[in-house]
Amino acid sequence: MKNERFGAVVVGGGLAGMLTALELRPLSVALVSYRALGELTSSAWAQGGIAAAVGDDDSPSLHAADTVRAGAGLVERHVAARLAADAPEAIERIASLGVQFDRDAASEYSLGREAAHSRRRILRAGGDATGAELVRAMAEGVRHAPTIVPFEGARALDIVTSDGRVCAVVVRNAEGALERLTTDAVILATGGIGGLYSHTTNPRASVGAGIAIAARAGARLEDLEFVQFHPTALDVPSDPLPLVTEALRGEGAKLVDAAGRRIMEGIDPALELASRDVVARRAFAVRVAGERVFLDARALGESLPKRFPTVFAACMAHGIDPRLEPIPVVAAAHYHMGGVAIDLEGRTSVPGLYACGEVAATGVHGANRLASNSLLESVVYPERIARDVKTHARAERGIAGTDDKAIATRPYVAGRDDEWRAVRREMYANVGVERDEAGLGHALAAFRALAETTPSDEVRDAATTAALIAQSALRRRETRGSHVRLDYPGSALHSEHSFATLADLVPSA
Ligand code: SIN
Repeated sequence: MKNERFGAVVVGGGLAGMLTALELRPLSVALVSYRALGELTSSAWAQGGIAAAVGDDDSPSLHAADTVRAGAGLVERHVAARLAADAPEAIERIASLGVQFDRDAASEYSLGREAAHSRRRILRAGGDATGAELVRAMAEGVRHAPTIVPFEGARALDIVTSDGRVCAVVVRNAEGALERLTTDAVILATGGIGGLYSHTTNPRASVGAGIAIAARAGARLEDLEFVQFHPTALDVPSDPLPLVTEALRGEGAKLVDAAGRRIMEGIDPALELASRDVVARRAFAVRVAGERVFLDARALGESLPKRFPTVFAACMAHGIDPRLEPIPVVAAAHYHMGGVAIDLEGRTSVPGLYACGEVAATGVHGANRLASNSLLESVVYPERIARDVKTHARAERGIAGTDDKAIATRPYVAGRDDEWRAVRREMYANVGVERDEAGLGHALAAFRALAETTPSDEVRDAATTAALIAQSALRRRETRGSHVRLDYPGSALHSEHSFATLADLVPSA
């Protein structure tokens, strides 16, 4: 097996991964991405933007307070405070890397509003194409950085440890050969888990491989049960479903049923701008009751195509003209609040292993993420991680002995369609917007059995992640934020974060 040594290995070719690689300069960095850089990543698809308190009427403390309020009692206040405080500087850092944010006539950032934000603080690019612009700028930076070696079309299979510390990553490269990337700093930025659900706004390939790999290396996982559903995915025959950004509701679009009745009336005083868990649950309930849900954005008229070009194009591609008719929408898996537990510097419980972006659980989202705080995390943590790698890890570089037991050497076996279909249906039906003990128990047993029997590494990792999520959801016997237990409808008086490791996964019966 080919063996190369790097100062750091970053796994993930989206915004968080590419920015981390850039921040790590001048260290030599291997950047592993399963597609071309930025391609088919959730960050590239992000429509809503980056939240940052840069407006005259705003402050980091207001931003942090909104974050805490949205998170349904589980946001770590000090983490939210530091994220909000670091946001304006992070915006300047990425602007200096070439990101072109939308500006008003006075050249100030034009700030949008999204649900549960008390101020206009959403920075966007290209209207609703923020993610694409971010990823474009990062990919350009990476391509011009001589110290970053992209491994495009490669999959990370396992993290290798020695005496409990990271010492290498094994990847299957674009030619199908195994390579050992030796390093003592690995940064996981592998994205989320939406692809585990039959209804999702995420790329199909976002199936939580990073969680499974980290778990095998012994990392502690946190709050896995908290999966955010977006209330307004475009309800069309498409997989994944195009997102209809929340920013439309920020600009006055209304959620209605087929008869044009406002579905949020009597549910929450903030109506369409209630927190996302509340809106998603209502949209789901209306649907379960047999009604379709629509987003009526007709009042935006001719400004819609210009201000929301991505949404407009997606609607028109499916024969819906949002200037003339309400847009059919459905709740879909959108963001994972839980993930690999990290501290303020992005360190996991495994020395030398870091995580950032959606795969990480920072404690900032609690049980319900405030919109546009996720791209913010993806631009704040890379700098912290790079600083930590360059200082603390430096003295330990050059580890000699290695333990390669974990290296996957089996031939590559792709997942079968029926296996993927089974996982994705089970997740939406039983680990979805509404949950109960019987459904979660069924899902857990099915995922556990599949993880043990499938010949495919890919499916095994996806089923392991799905099982860990189902088990965490089973163990949380309360309803909180995005985690709705029909059999435990109340919230516990005192709620804690949940933690798990692979060793906690109960064996199948
Ligand atoms: C959206 O544009 O509605 C999504 C924003 C987010 O998930 O942060």
